[in-house]
Amino acid sequence: MKRLWLVAGAGAIAVLLGIVLIGGRQAPDEAEMAQAGDPLEQSQPIQFPHDTHAGQFLIDCQYCHYSAERSVDAGIPPVETCIGCHREGSVAGRNMPEEIVKVREYHASGTPIPWRRIYKVSDHVHFPHMRHVAAGVTCQTCHGEVQEMGVLEEVAPEAGDLKMGWCISCHLERGASRDCTVCHY
Ligand code: HEC
Ligand code: HEC
Ligand code: HEC
Ligand code: HEC
Ligand code: HEC
Repeated sequence: MKRLWLVAGAGAIAVLLGIVLIGGRQAPDEAEMAQAGDPLEQSQPIQFPHDTHAGQFLIDCQYCHYSAERSVDAGIPPVETCIGCHREGSVAGRNMPEEIVKVREYHASGTPIPWRRIYKVSDHVHFPHMRHVAAGVTCQTCHGEVQEMGVLEEVAPEAGDLKMGWCISCHLERGASRDCTVCHY
């Protein structure tokens, strides 16, 4: 227990140092990006609308995030999943939307879409999606009403900044384990 605190503490300090260092180095790039255009427009390689897919067309979350119920990671779908529906790019009488052209270019060149990751806990923390799905905790409890969101940009307020207190308070409420070793390696 004492040793874990030390290890985790050292990890946290290393992470903090990392943030300071990386933060310092990235500042100029961010300034350049802001000048080059609206940073929001550039934050994802493709402006993927969750509301259109999961809201308007009622595509199940797990049609795309299909490993959520059986593995630690929910997973991001490969471009093949997109092409299944976007092979015929143009809807009758309408030009193919620019974002769909991009999807097809990634597919044609065999390049995975370089999505920017939004939800991430530190490497010393273990978060198993399948345990939460099995316990009946909905995606929305932690990620918010994703089916009403356009392009995802940041962690939803429901996720309490992904801090330890957020995990612990729900575990307390629902009688799940609060043993350090279930969450920390
Ligand atoms: C048609 C496929 C598709 C469907 C349906 C879908 N998603 Fe996604 N989801 C994606 C793609 C692609 C990304 C990566 C791009 C992004 O972050 O928007 C993503 C990203 C996410 C992320 C952020 C991941 C991260 O940390 O970077 C969350 C959370 C998420 N989806 C939850 C959901 C939930 C909840 C639903 C159902 C209400 C859902 N998704 C339905 C394709 C889908
Ligand atoms: C189950 C079918 C299905 C899957 C799978 C799917 N989409 Fe879609 N997508 C649609 C439909 C339907 C629309 C709305 C009609 C349209 O614009 O063609 C849409 C619209 C879009 C749009 C908005 C296009 C515009 O009008 O600007 C983008 C971008 C998009 N999809 C990207 C993706 C990506 C990236 C994936 C894979 C992660 C994906 N889609 C997977 C069915 C799907
Ligand atoms: C109890 C809270 C909780 C629930 C419920 C939950 N997630 Fe997550 N989700 C997280 C956390 C925390 C992360 C970051 C995990 C990490 O960094 O290892 C995450 C990460 C993700 C990611 C990023 C990629 C990945 O594989 O980790 C996607 C996509 C995602 N969740 C989708 C979903 C979907 C879809 C559901 C419902 C089937 C869902 N989540 C249910 C908390 C949750
Ligand atoms: C909204 C409620 C909720 C939140 C938030 C939540 N959990 Fe959980 N967690 C649960 C439930 C419910 C279970 C299932 C307990 C069971 O299977 O008996 C669980 C189980 C787990 C398990 C498996 C425990 C075991 O006994 O093996 C781990 C590990 C875990 N959660 C980690 C996390 C981490 C890390 C976070 C924060 C990043 C988190 N959880 C946030 C509700 C939550
Ligand atoms: C339900 C999951 C869970 C349990 C149980 C848990 N932690 Fe954590 N812990 C986390 C998460 C999530 C973080 C934040 C990681 C991040 O910043 O990405 C964290 C962070 C930490 C940190 C880094 C400093 C900080 O506050 O960010 C330490 C040290 C730590 N935990 C120790 C412990 C100890 C000791 C216990 C047992 C008394 C424990 N944890 C139990 C999930 C958990």
